Amino acid sequence: MKEITFTLNGEVRTFRIEPDETLIDLLRRNQLTGTKRGCDTGMCGSCAVIMDGRAVNACILYAFQVEGRTIETIEGVGDFDRPHPLQTALADAGAVQCGFCTPGMVMTAKALLDQQPNATETEIKKHLDGNLCRCTGYVKILDAVIQCAAPGTEEEAS
Ligand code: FES
Ligand code: FES
Repeated sequence: MKEITFTLNGEVRTFRIEPDETLIDLLRRNQLTGTKRGCDTGMCGSCAVIMDGRAVNACILYAFQVEGRTIETIEGVGDFDRPHPLQTALADAGAVQCGFCTPGMVMTAKALLDQQPNATETEIKKHLDGNLCRCTGYVKILDAVIQCAAPGTEEEAS
């Protein structure tokens, strides 16, 4: 066992970890089960969290790699009583069916809009292309995220 310390949802936390433990395993065994395990191979985005401002897949990150970093999970973003605007937009757009992909979608979209609030539709589509949804067909998800980008983000006419 090894001890690591990092900032988790705004709080400095210390955990004992196994050398080969992944970040998703660490989060989920500490009741942060909003981070979903889909493929477990870095292919679906359902386990996305934000590390130092960038969306990363927690299933392919070893826990020891987050030592000293800042990690944000869906639990730090919003909840049923105080949803983040992205969560509200996704719900309002009918972009949540089974909901399994939703936390990863929120985290990936949030990472982009935090850095680039006026991201264009093309940038949003490109940024979310690693997040898979087996239910919705993506249109409503993209509409919701696009709606959350700052005004004046329309693609320039070519
Ligand atoms: S569960 Fe991590 S990318 Fe699919
Ligand atoms: S809403 Fe079911 S996987 Fe996306």
